[in-house]
Amino acid sequence: MKRYLLLLCMGVLCSCTNQKSRYTNFQPGQVWEDNNGQHINAHGGGILYHSDTYYWYGEHKIEGHKGNTAQVGVHVYSSKDLYNWKDEGIALEVDSLNPAADIARGCIIERPKVIYNQKTNKYIMWFHLELISQGYNAARSGVAVSDSPTGPFTYLKSMRPNKGHWPLNVEDFHKKAVADTIKSAYCGGKECLPNHPDSLNLLGRDFEGGQMARDMNLFVDDNGKAYHLYSSEENSTLHIAELSDDYLSYTGNYVRVFPNRYMEAPSIMKTSNGKYYFIGSDCTSWNPNPARLATADHIFGPWTELGNPVVGTEDQKATTFESQSTYILPIQGKKDAFIFMADRWRPNNAIDGRYIWLPIQFENGAIKLEWKDQWNVSVFN
Ligand code: DGJ
Repeated sequence: MKRYLLLLCMGVLCSCTNQKSRYTNFQPGQVWEDNNGQHINAHGGGILYHSDTYYWYGEHKIEGHKGNTAQVGVHVYSSKDLYNWKDEGIALEVDSLNPAADIARGCIIERPKVIYNQKTNKYIMWFHLELISQGYNAARSGVAVSDSPTGPFTYLKSMRPNKGHWPLNVEDFHKKAVADTIKSAYCGGKECLPNHPDSLNLLGRDFEGGQMARDMNLFVDDNGKAYHLYSSEENSTLHIAELSDDYLSYTGNYVRVFPNRYMEAPSIMKTSNGKYYFIGSDCTSWNPNPARLATADHIFGPWTELGNPVVGTEDQKATTFESQSTYILPIQGKKDAFIFMADRWRPNNAIDGRYIWLPIQFENGAIKLEWKDQWNVSVFN
């Protein structure tokens, strides 16, 4: 009997150990199982590193096309080694009781990101919010807060950014009167706008009500200042906006960058020599397109585009390995070691979206992304 118990204990111990160290590398594009054997459900995600642990937040998707709307909320996982992830549950739940709530079940919650505020000791989540049954018309930023990295997060508010503030690099024409026809026009994407929508003065149109904010990211600089990057002006132009000290609102300092370039999927990093790098994409709905790299010496720019960072086949370059950027992850304890994180969307069966994580390689002041079937962080040694 004693022997049987011993064997049983060893078996349990073994299976736990196996589970814990199941993965020893990244396998981009493959099903990536969590500690329960379920494909990780954290799309359009971002990572927070806090107290020796990585936390991965992302859109929880369900099966089918309906999975492109928020039926559950924002999922969070934790990991010590970046390969093996523990399901920590739903960090922010949609509101299933009140269909009029901002985050009512069926709204759209995309690209959630979490940062930690040292002054308030709070975890702050920002996400792209589209109100229920309005398509992508609302273009709002949602904010939620928690005392713990794994939540539960409490939904605070949503807004259109920088209401009543001109960007630091505003141009004279922005301040001119906006035609009524343009005020009432709604345009969900670039197909219905001219190549250079400056003529429409979308910034001026949204000055009073706040600027549109869709694809987004957050970035905390070395000095603790946080920034919100979001696709604005009907996606035509990206904004980089400084957040208040508590990370819950805007200071009103912001810039327009990449005007009329329709940059989506903004992700950003900073190297030890103080240079900022940006990787984003063109705006083609769920379809992949060539990634775009840019660099700057200051977060507010000027930003210089450096072309497509993908090195590989024509197909890989044209589709960024069939994916779209979502976050750039600095690896703790390694100098200038970053992971490019992207989504391979599956809009017809959203839950099956795959994760493309690749090492960022530096070459002549630029970044190079190359496909790897499998790899681990030793590539950075
Ligand atoms: C591309 C964006 O990057 C995604 O986050 C999502 O908004 C889709 N467009 C919707 O078409």
